[in-house]
Formats: sequence, structure tokens, C-alpha cells
Amino acid sequence: MVRKAALLALAAVLLFGGQPARAISDARPARDVIGGLVAPQGKFPWAVRLSMGCGGTLIEPRIVLTAGHCVDGTGKNKSIVVTAGVTDLKSRRARTAQSERVIRAEGFIDEVRGDDWAVVRLDRDLHLPTLPIGRDVIGDGKYVVMGWGLTREDSVQQEERLHYASVPTVPDDKCALAYQKAGVTLVSDEQLCAGSPGVDTCQGDSGGPMVGHGRHGEWVQVGIVSWGLGCARDGYPGVYTQLSTFRPAIKAAVRKLR
Ligand code: ARG
Repeated sequence: MVRKAALLALAAVLLFGGQPARAISDARPARDVIGGLVAPQGKFPWAVRLSMGCGGTLIEPRIVLTAGHCVDGTGKNKSIVVTAGVTDLKSRRARTAQSERVIRAEGFIDEVRGDDWAVVRLDRDLHLPTLPIGRDVIGDGKYVVMGWGLTREDSVQQEERLHYASVPTVPDDKCALAYQKAGVTLVSDEQLCAGSPGVDTCQGDSGGPMVGHGRHGEWVQVGIVSWGLGCARDGYPGVYTQLSTFRPAIKAAVRKLR
């Protein structure tokens, strides 16, 4: 989802950052997430689509984790429809549920300033596998990201099928320096950066997961798609909510929602 605050922040970055606004994807063949692949049915069974145009994950049978900037705030909320259990949103196998209640990170202002997470309680149990929030992640510095968002920065359409890509993490200092030049201060303990030129998440992927492997090879969630300057641009990696920081707060919020 593209919110006004984000647009303003990014417009400021575009105006003062000195980086041409050209989409890097212009120079590349059209691929997916950006630079990824279409997910086969069943590969990421906990990945869900939210009706406001964001992604999310089932972290419990009735609870979705998404980005803070994808929701309006904390409270009763019946406006979100969740589509789950399919990579193709138009599939007849799609299961849907409706939101009942939302808790957004306390202190959330906008995605650029961190705290970019929210949990949503659904009106029913979706009976699908859930994704744990990683404690120890076996990382070789590469994670998988996914979503139904744009496959090119200049695309005008969200995707019907889930796309995924593998992205290398970018060290905090390197990422902070890049965005500093563009006038944005990274909140390093709340955000982690990942991506390579031509491979990134993009608008509409927000709220979706960045995943790695746990001790036993299982998928665990490491991040939430949050923001970036354009998509897949050289020198500007995607920025993700750093879940290791927020795991206790998210657990507490989930307990309140149960
Ligand atoms: N804020 C976007 C959304 O609401 C996600 C942008 C991710 N951008 C990136 N370059 N990784 O969908």
C-alpha cells in the first residue's frame, strides 16, 4: 500500500536525493516480485493477501502479521478481507476471512520511522499452516521475500499470482549511508535492508514476509516488507521490519487478540 506519508517521504528523497527517478527495471527483462519467480501452489502456505493491497502472514490460525502502514491503527476493524491458501488469488481454492480487530505497533508514525508492524484477528480459523517468527535463524545472508505487488517499479498493476525472490542482506551501515545521502535516517535496530540491483520487493508487497530457515530447515519469518526508494534500484535496497527486535511486542499483542 502506498500511503501519503510514505509518498511524501519518498518524494522528498526523489527531489533531494540526486538519484534519477528512472526505473531500473526499464533496462531489464520484465520479471517477478522484481527479479523473482512465480510461486508454485503450496510453497508458502501461510502467505496471505489483504484487501487494502498488502501482504501478510498467518502467524496463528486466526492471526495475520502485516505492516503497520497497511492498517489505520489499533481497534475494531471489519474492513479487511484476507485471501489465503492460494498463490493465484483468482483460484477457486482461495479461502477468505474478515478482520475483526487490529493492533498496530505502539509508537508507529510512518514506515520510514520504524515500528512498522501490525497484527490482525480474523473472524475465523483458516486451517492453514502458520509461520513462526524466527528466534535463531540460520542465515547465509540471503532471505526469501514475496508478494503480489508490482513486478516493475513503473508497473500499474498488482499481480494475480504470488511472486518470490531471494535477496542478500545489506549491512546496516552501508544501507544507512545510502539512505542518508537520500535524506532518510535508517532506524538500524528496527529495520534491516536487503536486495540487489534488479531484485527487490515493490509497491503492494508491503506487509508480506521475508523468510529464512530455522534450525530444522523450517521456514521462519525474519522481516516484514516495509519501504524502499523506488524498487530494485542500484544502491537502494529494500527496507524490512526487523522482527528479532519486535518479537516480544508482537507476541504480547497476539495474546491480547486471542
Ligand atoms: N511500501 C511499499 C508497499 O506499501 C513496499 C515497498 C517496498 N519497496 C522496496 N523497494 N522494497 O507496498
